[in-house]
Amino acid sequence: MVKKESIGIGLMGLGVIGGEVARVLAARAEVLGGQIGCPLVLRKVKVLEADLARPQAKEMGLELFTTDAEEFFSQDMDIVVEAIGGEQPAFDYLKRALSSGRHVVTSNKEVIAKHGVELFALAQQHGVGLHYEASVGGGIPLIAPFQQDLVANKISGIYAIINGTTNYILTLMAKEGADFPSALARAQKLGYAEADPRNDIEGIDAVYKLAILASLAFHCRVQPQDIHCEGISRMNNRDFRYAQELGFAIKLLAIAKQTDNQIEVRVHPVFIPEESLLAKVDGVYNAILVQGDLVGRVLFFGEGAGASATSSAVVSDVVSAAQDVIAGGGSRAKWVLEPGKSIRPMAELETRYYLRLNVADQPGVLAQVSKALGDHMISISSVIQKAVDSAAQTAEIVIMTHPAKEAEMQQALDELGKLASVKEIGNFIRVED
Ligand code: HSE
Repeated sequence: MVKKESIGIGLMGLGVIGGEVARVLAARAEVLGGQIGCPLVLRKVKVLEADLARPQAKEMGLELFTTDAEEFFSQDMDIVVEAIGGEQPAFDYLKRALSSGRHVVTSNKEVIAKHGVELFALAQQHGVGLHYEASVGGGIPLIAPFQQDLVANKISGIYAIINGTTNYILTLMAKEGADFPSALARAQKLGYAEADPRNDIEGIDAVYKLAILASLAFHCRVQPQDIHCEGISRMNNRDFRYAQELGFAIKLLAIAKQTDNQIEVRVHPVFIPEESLLAKVDGVYNAILVQGDLVGRVLFFGEGAGASATSSAVVSDVVSAAQDVIAGGGSRAKWVLEPGKSIRPMAELETRYYLRLNVADQPGVLAQVSKALGDHMISISSVIQKAVDSAAQTAEIVIMTHPAKEAEMQQALDELGKLASVKEIGNFIRVED
C-alpha cells in the first residue's frame, strides 16, 4: 500500500467527453474520494487554444488549463485521462504518459485498436495500468467483463450492434420507410451523426470496436485491417420492405467468431431473424451478444455513446486506476496473446444471401440468373417477383439462397452484373441465422 494525500489527475481534452469527465469528477468528488481513500485532484487540463474560450474552462479557472504538452507532462500526476480522440497526437501522448509512469485512462478506440499491443507492453514495462472501458460501447461494461467475469469461458462468438448512429439510421429506414439520405440527415440534425459521417456509416467506428473486443475475447491480435468492412450507405428502403416480408430485420452487425483456432471478423449489414434479441435493439442503443462455452449467451445492452454514459466508464476507470496507485501496482489490464490463431479469409465465409436484382422482364431471364448462381454451386431457396416497370420493361426479383461460399457468391455477382438481362444488382445482403 502507498500512503497518498491525494491522487493527481491530468486530463487531455475538454470536448464532449473530457468536459463531462471534468464535471463528474468535481460533482462526485466526495463519493469517489471515499471509494479510493483519498481525494482525486484535477491538476491540469491540456486543451487547444480554442477550448480556453469555452464557458466551462472559465468556470473551472483558466489557471487549470494549458495548451502546452511539456507543461502538462511536468505536473505531479498519477493518472492521465485521454479524451482527445483520433490517432494522433493522442497515441504519442499515451506513450509519453505510460513511459513516464502514469496510469492511463482512455476512451480512444482508434488508438487501442491500432496500437493496443504496443501500449500494453509499455504499461507492463513501467508497472502502470492502461484502462479503456469507454473505448467500446460507451457506458456499457464490456472490457471489465471480458477481462474478469467471462475469463473462464472459451468465447465462440460476438454479435454486436456497436454503432448507435448507424442503428438509428437503419431504424428510421425500417420503421418509417425513410430513404438513406433523409435518415442520415435526421441523424445529423439530432447530433447523432457527425458533419463528416464516414467513420460511422462506412463501418470504420464499428471495426475499431470489434478489433478491441475480438482481441480481448479470442486472445489473438485482431487489427482493424483484418476485419472485412462494409457500411450501410448502399441500403435502400426497398430492402427493408422485402426483409420484413421475409421475416427479417436489417442491422449493421460486428461479428466475431472463433472456430478451432480460426477467427472470423466482419462488419457489414445483415439480415437477422425478426424475433432475435438483436433485431429488437432500435435507435441509438447498442447491444452486444456474447456466446461463451460455460456461460451460454449473455447480452449487454445500453447507451453506446454520449457524454454522460461515456463518462460513467471513464470515471470508473479513474477509480480503478487510483485504487491501483494506492495498492502500489500495476498493470492489471493486458491482452493475452495465444500462438497459433489465424484470421479466416472472408472468401471462405459460408452463409445465406439475399439478392435484389433489376432485370429485363422477358422470357428466360430467371433461367439465366439461376444458371449464373448454379454455376457457382449457389442454390436458390426462394424467389419473389413483385414490382414490374412496364414502361422500362423491367422487373425486380428478390432471391434468397441456401448457404453458399462467399468467394462463389462474389464471382456469381460479377457474372450477373455482366448479363445484358440484368439491368442492376440492387443489393446483396448476407443472412445471419
Ligand atoms: N459514433 C459512435 C456511435 C459513438 O455512433 O456509436 C462513439 O463511439
